[in-house]
Amino acid sequence: MKATKVDKDLCIGCGLCCGICGEVFRMNEQGKAEAYQRANAENQGAVQEAADSCPVSAIA
Ligand code: F3S
Repeated sequence: MKATKVDKDLCIGCGLCCGICGEVFRMNEQGKAEAYQRANAENQGAVQEAADSCPVSAIA
């Protein structure tokens, strides 16, 4: 499974990704999202949904 990445320069800290898939995304101290786990077979759908939902397309 490829590593999920958040572009911190793009992220506006809306928090949507963490709400959709808290197993992979969390907010850091700068108020930006980060992917702290690799996606797995169970949550890859939610990771994709988070990527599709991000308003600034910061998740790849
Ligand atoms: Fe940031 Fe997009 Fe998540 S703006 S907090 S990466 S949904």
